[in-house]
Amino acid sequence: FTATWDIEAAEKGGYPHFMLKEIYEQPTAITNTVSPRIINGAPDFGIKALTDEILKSFKRIWIVACGTAMHAGMVGKSVIEQLARVPVEVDIASEFRYRKPILNPDDDLVIIISQSGETADTLAALRLAKEQGVHTLAVVNVVGSSIAREANSVIYTWAGPEIAVASTKAYTVQLSVMYLFAIKMASVKGLIDEKETAKLCDDLLALPAKIEEVLQNADNCKFVASKFQNAHDIFFIGRGLDYSLSLEGSLKLKEISYIHSDAYAAGELKHGTISLITTDMPVVAIATQSHLFEKMISNIKEVRTRGAKVLLICKKGTERQADLSEYVIEIPDYNEYFSPILTAVPLQMFAYYTSVLRGCDVDKPRNLAKSVTVE
Ligand code: G6P
Repeated sequence: FTATWDIEAAEKGGYPHFMLKEIYEQPTAITNTVSPRIINGAPDFGIKALTDEILKSFKRIWIVACGTAMHAGMVGKSVIEQLARVPVEVDIASEFRYRKPILNPDDDLVIIISQSGETADTLAALRLAKEQGVHTLAVVNVVGSSIAREANSVIYTWAGPEIAVASTKAYTVQLSVMYLFAIKMASVKGLIDEKETAKLCDDLLALPAKIEEVLQNADNCKFVASKFQNAHDIFFIGRGLDYSLSLEGSLKLKEISYIHSDAYAAGELKHGTISLITTDMPVVAIATQSHLFEKMISNIKEVRTRGAKVLLICKKGTERQADLSEYVIEIPDYNEYFSPILTAVPLQMFAYYTSVLRGCDVDKPRNLAKSVTVE
């Protein structure tokens, strides 16, 4: 008798790589994370230490994390500030812990985001905030991890085990918690009424079905990846929420395909980086926000004039000139506030297929670890 399967193949559930399996698990992971926390049309984290009164009292929020979790924090900043009107500072844990941050125990909340709950710098940042008497709220995926145990309060992301080194489903569930938190804060502060709160919660609950639609676009992502796979460098540009997604799309690509890549706030290109745009510098332009679309069109034209090949990621039905970009990936036309969760998926698939086409070790990229527990 010869076994024709192995345990790892069985764990991959028919997918060639854990990363692809985890990309496809996102609708379920988000549903598992969001739906138990929406009670009677409003977010409810069930955290005794964080009553509505206490939540209302925070005047400033810090979000501290590393890598992809930090990118989730950047989206968190935008969505919390936009809806709940509380200033948010995002910091890289390895910077935060050594820069003597000015924390105020009476006014501040420190949110720590970590998939593993074991990242050394993030854990040190948490301890520093606690030492200064600031309330720490951990958003963590691994139950019982150090960060989950030590934080004052915890919101678990229910993504299930993430095996691939490049984070995918852990990121989008972190985003969904950022949204829940923003809605909760806005609601306790009276900035949105019951009806608006319920509508936002409904929109969040409906996102997994929209992600399923995006996943049906896999062939297009693979096609586009085949057109970009031989690039030496790729730029990602975007504005607002799309800039935060550019950072994550760029990180994902370089982590697993080893193509050098950078992300820029599109309006900043003209202050230096546009000098690098040539026919050899393809650009991924993310433009899902209507109020910024015209500005993005100008930026895309600027790079096109200099010969860049452009992949545009925009909402279905976005009106534009047919020749604005060589390639397009569309996400469903949906409430733009939530577009980061939808935009993340094609960016993950683009990186995934580029890595596969280049013959890289998708799940275990060189020099990287799933959890960095040393400095
Ligand atoms: C490592 C992983 C990244 C992750 C980062 C933070 O560098 O390779 O994917 O984003 O650590 O990890 P954490 O477990 O704290 O989210």
